[in-house]
Amino acid sequence: MAASRRLVQSVAVITINHPPVNALSSSVRHALVEEFGEATKDPKVEAIVLSGSNGNFSAGADIREFGTSAVKTVSLEDLNSTIEASKKPVVAAIEGVALGGGLELALACHYRVANIKSRVGLPEVLIGILPAAGGTQRLPRLIGVPAAVDVIVRGRHIPATEALKLGIVDEVVQDNTIDKAVQLARKTIGRPLDKRRLSIHPIANNLYMQDLLDSAEAKAKKQFRGAKAPLACIEAVRAAVHLPFHKGVEKERQLFLSLWATGQPQAQQYAFFSEREAGKWTHPSGGRWETVEPQRVRTAAVIGLGTMGRGIVTSLSKANIPVIAMEQDAKQLEIGKKAVNSLLEREAEKLKQQGFAPEGKLGTVHFTLNFGELKEVDLIIEAVYENMELKKEIFRKLSSVCKADAFLCTNTSGLNIDEIASVTNRPRQVIGTHFFSPANIMRLLEVVRGQHTSLATIATSMHLGKVLGKVAVLVGNCPLFVGNRMLGPYLEQANFLIEEGCYPEEVDQAMEEFGFAMGPFRMMDLAGLDVGWRSRMEKGLTGSKAPEGLPARQRQGSRYSPLADILCESGRFGQKTGKGWYQYDKPGGRNAVPDPWVNDFLRKFRNTYQIQQRSSSPEQIVERCVYALANEGFRILEDGIASCPEDIDVIYNNGYGWPKHRGGPMYYASTVGLPKMLEVLENYSNANPDVPSMKPAFMLKKLVAVGGPPIKEWRTQVGKLANKL
Ligand code: CAA
Ligand code: NAI
Repeated sequence: MAASRRLVQSVAVITINHPPVNALSSSVRHALVEEFGEATKDPKVEAIVLSGSNGNFSAGADIREFGTSAVKTVSLEDLNSTIEASKKPVVAAIEGVALGGGLELALACHYRVANIKSRVGLPEVLIGILPAAGGTQRLPRLIGVPAAVDVIVRGRHIPATEALKLGIVDEVVQDNTIDKAVQLARKTIGRPLDKRRLSIHPIANNLYMQDLLDSAEAKAKKQFRGAKAPLACIEAVRAAVHLPFHKGVEKERQLFLSLWATGQPQAQQYAFFSEREAGKWTHPSGGRWETVEPQRVRTAAVIGLGTMGRGIVTSLSKANIPVIAMEQDAKQLEIGKKAVNSLLEREAEKLKQQGFAPEGKLGTVHFTLNFGELKEVDLIIEAVYENMELKKEIFRKLSSVCKADAFLCTNTSGLNIDEIASVTNRPRQVIGTHFFSPANIMRLLEVVRGQHTSLATIATSMHLGKVLGKVAVLVGNCPLFVGNRMLGPYLEQANFLIEEGCYPEEVDQAMEEFGFAMGPFRMMDLAGLDVGWRSRMEKGLTGSKAPEGLPARQRQGSRYSPLADILCESGRFGQKTGKGWYQYDKPGGRNAVPDPWVNDFLRKFRNTYQIQQRSSSPEQIVERCVYALANEGFRILEDGIASCPEDIDVIYNNGYGWPKHRGGPMYYASTVGLPKMLEVLENYSNANPDVPSMKPAFMLKKLVAVGGPPIKEWRTQVGKLANKL
């Protein structure tokens, strides 16, 4: 049964039963209508408690039903109106999560009791829609317009203690949530309920309200460039302010339908399910890591406390895992210790605000210079400089010091995992755990399997990712792995565009209007231009000097842009030096301002090389950069480095500021249409045979040849095609 009912004293306890998260599918809605009907009619019932089974109230509407006919049966808002109108008091007993339609259901109840560990929220905006079962109309009436706008537009999960402060729930309890809800329900029998019916609450409509909504709209336009759902959420709250409840609900429904027509919800829901499927992979032997029991990581160590190491230590500690943090000398150890402690203090403060006792939540960190102390640690993450010889030296030491079953991980951003593993006595337990900066905040974790990495090592690393609250994606071992490898052709096109006539700010603006959090030039300035430059110099890959002393625009027979190298030669490393593709008010400054020096330099560069300046429209800029990115994605599929397009999209959505409402670069390719993408790449490639990265990938051609199937079918096509290569 999708819902059940039992009588406790004179209270009917109705329980939603739809594992794993009690999504409100059509069958659940039907069952709830029936159980409420029965409870309302039953003279023995004086009050009702609504709860969920298996420790969860409800995660909201069943996302899989969107776009199907199931969604048209009993509407959740009709059910909510029935509950709210009930003459018998109804109390929601919230355990686990009450999200989206789940919270909307609870808002229709007259009272809400929440367990201290529960979370509530209206996260619809994150899947491209808006709360469409009265949530945008009831929440502002309950907690006021400013707080409601914040909750609905950000879609964040709100811990119970904060929900109590905001007034979303009436009571927070430590345990026995349902019993306590029954007690509250009994106390409310016979009390007047009108004040508890949110739909008839008055709502303030004044000039201040208009200003507030206008500025929320302006902020959302800037922050979520191109995404329609945040704006629809604000419009719906505006309707709550201006219109009577039933009209507001109609507006909410209309907005839902118009959002659906934009295609953005489909992209974001694809991204939602891709994330849950991420990293599934079959070993050539047929084995699957998902079926292998992960080892428990009771203790961990991090070697190197620089930019990445300090974030990784914090992330482990946040997950309550005791960490040993190691550095190369006393000075670096002291610097690392200060940085880690300051990050931990911030985390503790956040936990305190959420009502947790911080000392009970954060794992301890022990700082040391002594490798001997790593003897008993379960898992070690190396995060020293990106230098193969240094990494090998560390792994040799780890191999001799650490216990036999310890896992050895490297945070390298692109070095060969097999080469690192080759110096150890346990290549099966060596794996890449590629965190993103800042590691305590960014959600993405690329888990890189080497040739010998065992399924148990993969399972343990993927599970650790989940424990750390990350989205872990399993990828194969190749230079730069997936995310950074795809960036190469993307940045190359950005550079070619400015050689040919665009300015950095034009390219950035086009990409930011497309929805990227940051255009390529602002991103390079933030990351530091010197990082790539040094690595190119180490490998002898900077543009060698042409006979006339000018930097060459060819490298190993291919077109090469020396612009970034020239900037670095003049000490322009980006934000850190206060100058790069842009200028900043000081070294470390963040406000990028177009630099006349750069534009003058570009003009001279074009003159020197006799490049005829031509302009490119924002559409052309986007096309060149994004098609280059996706084309490399097809190559990555071809090489078996990512096992499906969804994994690539999860990487880009969570690690590279890709606009989520566009689903990811591979999903975007599917919406552009593969034949069109192929044609554009072929035209470019024919005109520019010296740019191999734009040569259409074999996998793209093959997918077009089999009729350009929808993306959900690529996984099987990719498997079949990759086998034939
Ligand atoms: N609909 C359908 N399936 C859902 C779902 C939903 N709302 N929420 C979660 N699931 C599924 C997941 O796909 C996953 O399925 P598989 O086991 O088959 O992979 C399973 O439930 C467990 O989910 P997670 O792996 O994500 O588990 P978790 O414990 O890490 O997270 C969660 C649980 C916090 C509820 C998370 O799943 C989540 O955020 N869910 C979405 C919540 C949401 O967006 N709700 C709004 C829905 S739209 C709505 O309600 C519209 C409206 O106004 C009526
Ligand atoms: P960093 O230069 O900020 O820090 C490296 C740290 O390692 C320094 O504190 C240094 O003292 C320490 N170290 C060097 N030799 C050591 C030794 N023998 N024993 C102990 N500690 C030693 O470097 P960063 O940026 O943190 O990078 C670390 C690794 O993470 C590199 O492999 C890098 O490619 C990778 N990475 C970096 C990202 C970034 O954005 N910075 C992103 C993802 C991966």
